[in-house]
Amino acid sequence: MSESSKRIELSDLSHVFRGAAFRQMGGELTAVDHVSFRLTAEPPQIVNLVGESGSGKSTLARIILGLQRPTSGSITYCGKDVYRLTGAEFRQYRREVQVVFQDPYGIFNPFYRVDRIFWTAIKKFGLASSEEKGRALIEQSLAAVDLRPEDVLGRYPHQLSGGQRQRVMLARVHMLRPSFIIADEPVSMLDAAVRVLFLNILLDFKERYGMTTLFITHDLSTAYYLGGEIMVISNGRIVERGSTDDVLLRPAHPYTQQLLSSLPVPEPEARWHEMLKLTEDRATTRGRTRARCLFAERCPMVMEQCWEQRPELVTVGPSHEARCFLYGAEATEANPSRVLATGDERK
Ligand SMILES: Nc1ncnc2c1ncn2[C@@H]1O[C@H](COP(=O)(O)OP(=O)(O)O)[C@@H](O)[C@H]1O
Ligand SMILES: [Mg+2]
Repeated sequence: MSESSKRIELSDLSHVFRGAAFRQMGGELTAVDHVSFRLTAEPPQIVNLVGESGSGKSTLARIILGLQRPTSGSITYCGKDVYRLTGAEFRQYRREVQVVFQDPYGIFNPFYRVDRIFWTAIKKFGLASSEEKGRALIEQSLAAVDLRPEDVLGRYPHQLSGGQRQRVMLARVHMLRPSFIIADEPVSMLDAAVRVLFLNILLDFKERYGMTTLFITHDLSTAYYLGGEIMVISNGRIVERGSTDDVLLRPAHPYTQQLLSSLPVPEPEARWHEMLKLTEDRATTRGRTRARCLFAERCPMVMEQCWEQRPELVTVGPSHEARCFLYGAEATEANPSRVLATGDERK
């Protein structure tokens, strides 16, 4: 497998949860709705996936990690269906695609010292031929994330700070040198200074080792800090995507515009959460109502066709797309790429 072919590709991927719990919504909930995108290792990327709570981000992460088979569509790794890999291929995949969660407490066994995280990886993947080499490897990886061995080794998880625990997870990533990191809200529990440290390590891993990160967050400011590409997800649908600067500085979709305007500078978290309450509307996820824009009832620019048709992603600028009829009054499923206006022309 050549380096350049390493890629994860999601095509028209959907995931529907079914069960009595969703009776009010017609018995099902569409958590991921026809999502397509590609992560490549060469060149390495930062891809931000941002959206409110409940928008389907973690479901997508679980699908990518091979933990949740999608209801429809496909996910391939180097052209092979991830859910049809052989045991050996899947082990290789799980080495190439590492995850960092919000708080790794769940991964740490509270009764074992932190060292075990590293030794388990070393043994599982045969990373060192002797104990001495293993120890050297651990120290190198700790140094790469700015941790001193004496501050973490020999300690139990609860004796570390949240920031130290997250960096231990990054040290483990450093040791395994995966091509892809799936980071699901990894800095949400960290304070600002530690957050920046963590983000800088991800950027460093990209530059130094060519690791591609899918960075999942509900916080637009962290996405902006990381740069790269961004996908804005709402109700399981990607509503806007493009270069992070372009999308956040020139948002085209009314949804993204609302998210940004609700983001005051001093206290982003608090206001964002207010916003989430306003926008969470799970009743709209019934199958028959999904054939229209799911943002229609909250959209200041709503038009008649928004209630009747499902907008497709249309081009709004160089490498920038939005799922909105404002940019293609006649764009339909049959004619998804029609472009009528750019964000600037509209103003
Ligand atoms: N295992 C599950 N069973 C049923 N519904 C689920 C399950 N996991 C997630 N959901 C629902 O799917 C939607 C998307 O959830 P999730 O992917 O966790 O969103 P996010 O990570 O963006 O907060 C939510 O409405 C959530 O309640
Ligand atoms: Mg989540």
